[in-house]
Amino acid sequence: MSPTSHGGPGRIRGDGAVVARAPAKVNVHLAVAPLGPDGYHELRTVFLAVSLFDTVTVRPAGDLSIELTGEFAGGRSGPDRVPTDRRNIVWRAAELLAEHAGVPAHAAVTIDKSIPAAAGLAGGSADAAAALVALDTLWGTHATRGDLAGLAAQLGSDVPFSLLGGVALGSGRGDRLSPVLARRPWHWVLGIAGAGLSTPAVYGELDRLRAAGDLPSGEELVSPDPVVAALRSGPADALGAALWNDLQDPAISLRPDLRRALEEATAAGAVGALVSGSGPTVAALADDEAGAEALAAQLAATGSFRTVRAVHGPVHGARLVG
Ligand code: C5P
Repeated sequence: MSPTSHGGPGRIRGDGAVVARAPAKVNVHLAVAPLGPDGYHELRTVFLAVSLFDTVTVRPAGDLSIELTGEFAGGRSGPDRVPTDRRNIVWRAAELLAEHAGVPAHAAVTIDKSIPAAAGLAGGSADAAAALVALDTLWGTHATRGDLAGLAAQLGSDVPFSLLGGVALGSGRGDRLSPVLARRPWHWVLGIAGAGLSTPAVYGELDRLRAAGDLPSGEELVSPDPVVAALRSGPADALGAALWNDLQDPAISLRPDLRRALEEATAAGAVGALVSGSGPTVAALADDEAGAEALAAQLAATGSFRTVRAVHGPVHGARLVG
């Protein structure tokens, strides 16, 4: 018999609530192939889960509802506005798990958002992964980790990694994962912008720049080997030198002030810096925890970011708390 994913009824609180959290991610390597016939780009990526978490609380209810709380609950317009209806990935996660288990998709869901939306940090994917884990316990679904990973891949390219956490090499759409050994914790500063970027728009800009001959075609994917080797055994500056993101140039093309933000990170002493995923978050690598705190203070003082956060990774993927 396969093990169930995580705990059982013991994790249901006295008031009937179940709480799970899931981490943000940084892509320390992201190589993107040309647009495929399915509308997606084949990827070769290395994900690193970092210590910025969204928390999802689910309670018994007679229907399905979503409430948002926390620093990044939204209220702004544009791609970073988080909906509370079926456009929210958590709504689709609930319906998918309910269908899989043959139970009604009934729950009152509260998402406490510390991960900004449309930031290149997989905030929505973290919410979906945490919701799958929490609802599995609330509903007594007893899905295996493998079941949940299959559902996760149907919800979005980054959701399987949000479930797994740690460090992983991703291929396919980013949903085929194999764990990577990381020798130690890595300390980062995340520079979070005031407004988000739409992931499809950034992929579209990559296609446009490639078609115009402004960027290499991507037929030959940049190898993740230098990043994997640095994660395994390198000093921070080896990892800093190996960081790679094919979406960085299109993100800068759509948001030119990102170039200055990256330069500011390097000038402030980062051993490496890149745009995280499709951006616009800048991830700046420090030597150690003290270095990250000092770098965070310097980057906060530049005024280039809405929020600056010192984080570390790898951390675990979606799991129950409390
Ligand atoms: O899978 P997910 O819903 O996160 O993807 C959002 C959008 O990002 C897709 O609709 C597609 O436009 C783009 N994408 C892509 N190639 C990938 C992952 C995402 O083109 N590997």
